[in-house]
Amino acid sequence: MMNQKEFMELLRHNLEKNNDARLKVKFYQSLKSLVLSIQNTEDFKCPSSRFLSESFGVSRDTVEKVYTQLEDEGILYRIKGKGSFVYAKSGQYRQSAQNMQYDLAPESQQLEDLFFDQNLNFFADGIPEIRNFPFKKWYETEKQVLYSVGLSIYMKDNSAGNELLREQIAQLVNLHRHTQVSPEQVLIVNSTQQAMYLCGRVLLPENSQVILEHPYYSNAYHLFKHMHMSLKCIGLDAEGLKIQDAEQLENIRAVYVTPSCQYPSGIQMSEQRKRQIIEFAEKKNAYIIEDDYDAFMLKKEKNKAVFASDHYQRTVYIGSFSKYLLPGLRLSYLILPERLVEPFKRYRNYIDGSAPSQHIQVQLAHFMKNGEYAVYLHKMQQIYLKRYQAFIHYFNQYLAFYCELKEHHPSMQIACYFKNLKLAEKLENALVKGAELKGIAITHLSQFYENNPEYGFVLGFSALNDTEIKACMLELTQMISAEIKRVNTK
Ligand SMILES: Cc1ncc(COP(=O)(O)O)c(C=O)c1O
Repeated sequence: MMNQKEFMELLRHNLEKNNDARLKVKFYQSLKSLVLSIQNTEDFKCPSSRFLSESFGVSRDTVEKVYTQLEDEGILYRIKGKGSFVYAKSGQYRQSAQNMQYDLAPESQQLEDLFFDQNLNFFADGIPEIRNFPFKKWYETEKQVLYSVGLSIYMKDNSAGNELLREQIAQLVNLHRHTQVSPEQVLIVNSTQQAMYLCGRVLLPENSQVILEHPYYSNAYHLFKHMHMSLKCIGLDAEGLKIQDAEQLENIRAVYVTPSCQYPSGIQMSEQRKRQIIEFAEKKNAYIIEDDYDAFMLKKEKNKAVFASDHYQRTVYIGSFSKYLLPGLRLSYLILPERLVEPFKRYRNYIDGSAPSQHIQVQLAHFMKNGEYAVYLHKMQQIYLKRYQAFIHYFNQYLAFYCELKEHHPSMQIACYFKNLKLAEKLENALVKGAELKGIAITHLSQFYENNPEYGFVLGFSALNDTEIKACMLELTQMISAEIKRVNTK
């Protein structure tokens, strides 16, 4: 039970901690957080405004205004001539909630460990460099956009997405991926994850058979599994997914691929293999889901999107701004055969009520139209290529003693395989656990296999500069060396 003396001490403490230069705001925040923390079982009478004013050197008028505001917010009540009171709390709700057993749906329990926050100071996989982002230009674009569009920018958007943004995306993809798509084929969504979910809901009835690359992008694997698809994992060769191995499979409904740079192996699919997959899909009456997450990493003059060559129009193309811009924007897009745009849009609106925030969409559209995005992309492509080269250099210098690289294409992450096959499984396990104790999350390779896994890591280096890549490589090498010694002396 709080008493008035404690109340005064805590309020003094809150005021000392609060650095806001505006006295009224400082007093309001300090008093509000204190009042909200009171758990008394009887209504608590707060000190009078005169007393607070004299104790803390705040004008009585300010204290009165703050008390009135807290009353307006329903946090306390005031009785003329008697004072200001905080409502009693019974504590029963908290008690019973603690004892409550919540039965989670099994699918929800399975998802528990799938997504984790990665540390930014190690080989975090999937995270772009944002330190070079032209924030000032972005901010100026935002100001101009807010000024010219006004408040309506915060209305919901049930359309396929902002027209200018769709136009800019169509232009971008046509330029870099050799497609000829129109803005009407572009549907703006929040993420690749949402795009894949929509593919599942709109195109794939439960138990549909879906072919995935093996090793796979685990977010796709778990999502489709969660949606009760029957997954067929097919291995890779130097040209990409070995679609020839799937020839005997019947009732295939979709093939999910990451052709521009297979995740996690880094293999780039050959043009011939893309054509084989297109013919396979046509023969089996299946869709192709093309996750082109890595499309703009390097200039790929000769590399075409599957979408570009698919004259049967069975391909659903997914692009994302997570890798090249800002992952927290949560902005991605689907490029669809025209007839699929409406059903996809309907389902997106059904689950989300709207397209992604118009504020972000319009801002990005103008950022692209003004040429800022193209300049940034060009600069980042050069930086990422240098980082890839630095990674290979330091890999050869340090990690190559324990790990090897296989066929891959320059990318923002690389799969590294343990050389010592006898120790590989133990080592991977021990290292991930050891790193965890140091607060480092390592993306281990075996998680991307359904069976017969390979062991090692997927190391992302796009967010690290040369010095950081070297430091992380050294640290990882030392961790492996220490772990091998430990395992060998057991
Ligand atoms: C294979 C793959 N696809 C897509 C994405 C982008 O996902 P999202 O758009 O959901 O951020 C990533 C990001 O790491 C990825 O690795």
